[in-house]
Amino acid sequence: KRLAILASGSGSNAEKIMEYFQGSKTVEIALVASNKVDAFVLERAKKFDVPTFTFSRKEMDAGILQAKLKEEKIDWVILAGFLLKIPVELTRAFPDRMVNIHPALLPKYGGKGMYGMNVHEAVKTAGEKETGITIHLVNENYDEGRIVFQATTAVGIDDSPEDIAQKIHKLEHAHFPRVIAELVEGE
Ligand code: GRF
Repeated sequence: KRLAILASGSGSNAEKIMEYFQGSKTVEIALVASNKVDAFVLERAKKFDVPTFTFSRKEMDAGILQAKLKEEKIDWVILAGFLLKIPVELTRAFPDRMVNIHPALLPKYGGKGMYGMNVHEAVKTAGEKETGITIHLVNENYDEGRIVFQATTAVGIDDSPEDIAQKIHKLEHAHFPRVIAELVEGE
């Protein structure tokens, strides 16, 4: 199976995924694509000799990304810190084959605007005692695709949003690659 990872930022999840599947005979990370030409995830891909592709929101909306994924014969698309809304056509091109990780316990704290640090601020401000990660399939309603996996962690009363982000990253790195393997190899 050929997987593409879409990421907009640092790419620590992408790195863990590339590491996990290194040497795999059944799963290949065939592409890392980003909407940011300076995203550090592109450097991480180079370290693993994974081809990279950058695109603008305009190009994505014009179907350029979809054409590239088709050209590369991609079977699964993994969103790992990808901050743009996926065009509906693209979600339809990968039915039950597009996976996203969300740094909170959906359906709470979902929605486009809750990405990145501010989802942890929202969790803290709400006085939540726990938070976690949600790995889900992406359909045209984005955060409403089938939930595949969730893991939780406690929120300490003195935790800053950064502390919470650290706890979330640990959960993501511990689970995302294996959950992807279960999905991709289980199909
Ligand atoms: C992760 O917390 C992910 O849940 C969220 O964005 C972050 C990406 O981190 N969507 P990284 O780029 O993988 O380090």
